[in-house]
Amino acid sequence: MECDIFLAIPHAMDCTDMIIGSARGMRSRIGDYYSRDRSTPLHDEAYGGTESLTAAVGFEEDGYTTILFRKKLQAAESVDFSITNSFMHVIWARGQDAGNYVHVPPTGIDGSTTASDPNYYKVDELKYHGHASHRGVRTLNFMLDTETDPVMTTPAPPLTCEGTWGNCNTEDSNCYLVRWSYNDSTGLITFTVRVYLENNQWAALGFSRNTQMAATDVVVGYVRPDGKGVLQDRYAEGKFMPSLDSSSDVNLVSSSRQNKITTFEFTRPPRTADTSHDFQFSSTNCAYFFYAKGGTFTNNGDITRHDQTPIISQERICIPCAVPSKSYIHG
Ligand code: HEM
Ligand code: HEM
Repeated sequence: MECDIFLAIPHAMDCTDMIIGSARGMRSRIGDYYSRDRSTPLHDEAYGGTESLTAAVGFEEDGYTTILFRKKLQAAESVDFSITNSFMHVIWARGQDAGNYVHVPPTGIDGSTTASDPNYYKVDELKYHGHASHRGVRTLNFMLDTETDPVMTTPAPPLTCEGTWGNCNTEDSNCYLVRWSYNDSTGLITFTVRVYLENNQWAALGFSRNTQMAATDVVVGYVRPDGKGVLQDRYAEGKFMPSLDSSSDVNLVSSSRQNKITTFEFTRPPRTADTSHDFQFSSTNCAYFFYAKGGTFTNNGDITRHDQTPIISQERICIPCAVPSKSYIHG
């Protein structure tokens, strides 16, 4: 199915080949589905494909449902994807448990009486799965050796990945170095930014789907003359001062300034609740990184325009990395 995930910001459910099953005792219903977006996935036939599973069986025992299916590695139609020796975007989900729903935020059906249809979720019916432990995303290579590759062992090790962009070894006046590492167990990305700055100059990182200043998530950092580090979560609507976000989703861990080299370290989760002003990172939603420096900062925390056109990374950067446990150096 024609589906270029780079044309729009993709969601984990966009353009995915799915197998969905349910079981009652020894009886089961298992099918080959396709999900175009966040609506109910449909049987492949609805999108011009066919039921391509070559075998399937399922049963329910002690509250556990087991589904087994067989499908060809090589896909023969656009609504099926081949399983190859490479990392793939893999998602899973399970239906809601009656009376124990996981909606965020809670809906009328969650423990109150305001729902127009309190029996909206019916047993074994294909409906919205909910949050938390009811769905997940992973980057997996099914062909890896399950004995030796830690990605395939259970429990899964934390998905970490790290990268660097730029260079600041020689400490010349143009030097900048951005380092990041993502730790799946804390759910945080740690950024370290090391740059040459004049006194009263600011440095900033920008994250954007494209290479324009407009619609860019911006993090500005600087060290004040009294030695105090400042970190600001901003958003650029256009080619003017990016405004402060109403919620700050970045956290300054440390800052220092020595011989015109300013270093600041901050953390932020890949995805935040401020979806309109913070870049929502994932292994498929990747950002061009911008490096900008002032201009100056003022006593009230405003910034003036960059003195050169900011530097833009050559490629989009994914966090977590598209390939786990790998270190990247970006141009
Ligand atoms: C009637 C069926 C389904 C509906 C209506 C539905 C709807 C949605 C919606 C509205 C969201 C976004 C809101 C949220 O984050 O919870 C979502 C997220 C998600 N769905 Fe579904 N879904 C369905 C079936 C499935 C199935 C069968 C799978 C996996 C095979 C799946 C995997 C996911 C995942 C992994 C996410 C979270 C992505 C993330 O963490 O950003 N969904 N779904
Ligand atoms: C007061 C703050 C700022 C003002 C007034 C401003 C204004 C402008 C203007 C007038 C341009 C076009 C001329 C040029 O290339 O220099 C521009 C370009 C650009 N700015 Fe800014 N900027 C500000 C801060 C930032 C920040 C913090 C970032 C990112 C971290 C950023 C990213 C960019 C990028 C990537 C371009 C080149 C692409 C484009 O022209 O859209 N700017 N800015």
